[in-house]
Amino acid sequence: MASSCSCNSGNFKAASFHPNKPLAPTPSHLLPTSKPSQLASLSLRLNQNPSQTHFRKSKAVPGLQVVASGQKGEPLRVMISGAPASGKGTQCELITKKYNLVHIAAGDLLRAEVAAGTENGKRAKEFMEMGKLVPNEIVVMMVKERLSQQDSQENGWLLDGYPRSESQATALKKFGFVPDIFILLEVPEEILVERVVGRRLDPVTGKIYHLTYSPPETEEIAARLTQRFDDTEEKVKLRLLTHNSNVESVLSLYEDQIVKVDGTLPKEEVFSQIDSVLTELLAKKGAAFGSLAA
Ligand code: AP5
Repeated sequence: MASSCSCNSGNFKAASFHPNKPLAPTPSHLLPTSKPSQLASLSLRLNQNPSQTHFRKSKAVPGLQVVASGQKGEPLRVMISGAPASGKGTQCELITKKYNLVHIAAGDLLRAEVAAGTENGKRAKEFMEMGKLVPNEIVVMMVKERLSQQDSQENGWLLDGYPRSESQATALKKFGFVPDIFILLEVPEEILVERVVGRRLDPVTGKIYHLTYSPPETEEIAARLTQRFDDTEEKVKLRLLTHNSNVESVLSLYEDQIVKVDGTLPKEEVFSQIDSVLTELLAKKGAAFGSLAA
């Protein structure tokens, strides 16, 4: 992830653990029948024909809120992944705004612990400073607890920056948390450093800015922007090393759910691709639910 955005991610400290039983895996009949290659080619096809994109989206939108709110169909369960500064947090802002999913960003949960000065936070900060993964004994239960809460189960979830290792992915599967879709943002390394160094966060709204690509709207906002403690060129290179050494093992566990998206495009265009795929997926889930209920 991410942002310092609390959005729907909530504050881990404030969140009490609900002893809900873990989510059951999505039944196979509710999973998208399209193979990832079909979903990927779907987004490619839509991009090649903007008018078609518009038509398909506007057709699908009317039923969207009902399905996304969990009143009718199964809620969406989405993972978003990519290298540091590939745009995960930025896209999560846009996805949650439209789809009302509960945004759970591992980085945000950890930064909340750091800010609260807890023992876990102090320990986590040492690893974050080094650009390394925070140990599983801190992060695995933190994310599991947030995923288990009622809002995540009812509205669906958007898991940002998690899992980042094979062991985290395996633990999630064991707990029964299986995504409908795994979005991978692809951005070459040379672009990532510039994005990190120029990133700024609004502590009031949680919104993510970039001094060049997404500057603040007003001088008042500009004056209050902050920078993350790990947003230096040196630290992002360390984070990249960690990412590169783990990414393949994670991807291999989600082969059937991966949709790759070109993260170098302007953020609105990246979102448009994601939006097309999510809309299609929701329609499928809604249709599957409808046919069951009939
Ligand atoms: P985390 O907070 O998740 O950091 P990260 O993965 O390095 O990702 P970022 O938050 O840096 O980037 P992003 O992809 O969200 O990009 P953004 O949208 O902000 O993790 C921090 C640390 O916590 C880790 O190093 C680790 O120590 C620990 N941690 C986290 N998860 C863990 C886990 N699962 N296990 C163990 N430890 C864990 O965008 C970046 C900039 O680019 C912004 O300025 C934005 O405005 C700009 N931008 C975005 N999109 C575009 C675009 N399309 N065009 C131009 N500019 C854009």
